[in-house]
Amino acid sequence: MAILKVARLGHPVLRQVARPVPVDAIRAPETQRFIDDLIETMREYDGAGLAANQVHTPQQICVIEVLSNPRYPDAPEIPLTVVINPVVTPLTDEMEDGWEGCLSVPEMRGLVPRHTAVRLTCHDRDGQPVDLIAKDFFARVVQHETDHLQGVVYVDRMRDLRTLCHVAEWNKHWLGLREQDD
Ligand code: NI
Repeated sequence: MAILKVARLGHPVLRQVARPVPVDAIRAPETQRFIDDLIETMREYDGAGLAANQVHTPQQICVIEVLSNPRYPDAPEIPLTVVINPVVTPLTDEMEDGWEGCLSVPEMRGLVPRHTAVRLTCHDRDGQPVDLIAKDFFARVVQHETDHLQGVVYVDRMRDLRTLCHVAEWNKHWLGLREQDD
């Protein structure tokens, strides 16, 4: 397995719409190796997820996993989820603000409104169809990662750019705020 280089904001690959993976190519060794590398890279940098665009390979693949993540100490755990050719449908009009960061926007945090529940249909790494409902934090991560596959970065979704923070300032001035709101 290999740790892949992560593109940062400003690299055009982050603005590309990723191409779908033909279902019969999912089990091909090169696709499986790429998925392993994506997982390895996500874990190396403590990401809650990672999308293929972020490693300079615009295909419709992203991975999600949260296991006591030091970057998100209060986040609920999410088992490893491999998402291929996703379609995300919001199930609520309700949007909730929450803090997000991104390995492609290093050292920053911003407050982002997201749907609190979404339906995710996609394929898994065996090429099997997946149809699930994601809520709350899982729904947030699904929206963040699948946005990457459409060339969208979280800062595009922010309602108020004044909440865009360097993480050191965020720890000093914002940590704990807003979380008690509801
Ligand atoms: Ni991201």
